[in-house]
Amino acid sequence: MWERSHAIASLYDGSAPTVKRLIWRLGKKPVSGRFPWSSFAPVIILTMPLHWKRTVAAAATVALALAVLAGCAPERVPATGSPSPTASVSATPVAKPKNFFNKTQYSLTDPTSIWVVVNKLRPLQPTNFTPTLVTLDVPHVSAPQMTQEAGDALLKMFAAAAAAGAGQLQIQNSYRSYNVQVNTHTSLVGSLGQAAADAQSARPGYSEHQTGLAVDVASYPSKCDIAACFGQTPQGIWLAANSWQYGYILRYPADKTAITGYIYEPWHFRYVGVALSTEMHNDGIETMEEFFGLPPAPDYATATG
Ligand code: DAL
Ligand code: ZN
Repeated sequence: MWERSHAIASLYDGSAPTVKRLIWRLGKKPVSGRFPWSSFAPVIILTMPLHWKRTVAAAATVALALAVLAGCAPERVPATGSPSPTASVSATPVAKPKNFFNKTQYSLTDPTSIWVVVNKLRPLQPTNFTPTLVTLDVPHVSAPQMTQEAGDALLKMFAAAAAAGAGQLQIQNSYRSYNVQVNTHTSLVGSLGQAAADAQSARPGYSEHQTGLAVDVASYPSKCDIAACFGQTPQGIWLAANSWQYGYILRYPADKTAITGYIYEPWHFRYVGVALSTEMHNDGIETMEEFFGLPPAPDYATATG
């Protein structure tokens, strides 16, 4: 093979400088080994008739186009199976940090704080505390007195309930002084006994009503007032679902007696401000004790309270 190709090449000695160089190179090639087509191809092409050259050029163009297409084709991705560890790229989304809620923004012990936590283990300090109050212009059974902030929010909430078709509301009880709480609790102990009275009425100095931030609401006209069935009235249902939007929480839920120390009171709402009520709502946390990580307060620390 090599000798025959060498003979063909030698026919073109002196015809062109390129051919001369090729013939010189071919003359240096060893006899053994594969024929050097890559070196000899130009000579073959040069010796072709013109119509052969056109055919070869067309074939080369098609081959080049196919090679380029193959190189540009998108990588095939397996439809099934796990990617190899080296090929995988972590797709774990970066967790968006939850907005920080400062749980120390307000005092939990100062009785003027909208976050004050009052329960059977946390009496008001001082126990004879008296808040600054305003009288509210709403239907009421007893004097409608609350702090300005809590009262403003209550008026908005009552108006929103009516606008939503939940019906009219009134104040059954709002602020109760230490002395009024003495009378209320003593009266209940007389009629129900100590244990039953303690389950639904705070001892003097331990009631949220003394802060001016708590209110017992009732339907207007009255229906199921200070009774569990208030929770099934349109007003009770609406308040349980929407009070958080006005800064109020249902303070004594049915299933939290072991934490709050009180029976279900669907009528008793506590103002804590929209920021806290919204945070508790969003977190699904119903009681202040749970939210602030305070101990449950099912009973008083001492028998006498
Ligand atoms: N009814 C609530 C617990 C109070 O007396 O403050
Ligand atoms: Zn109450």
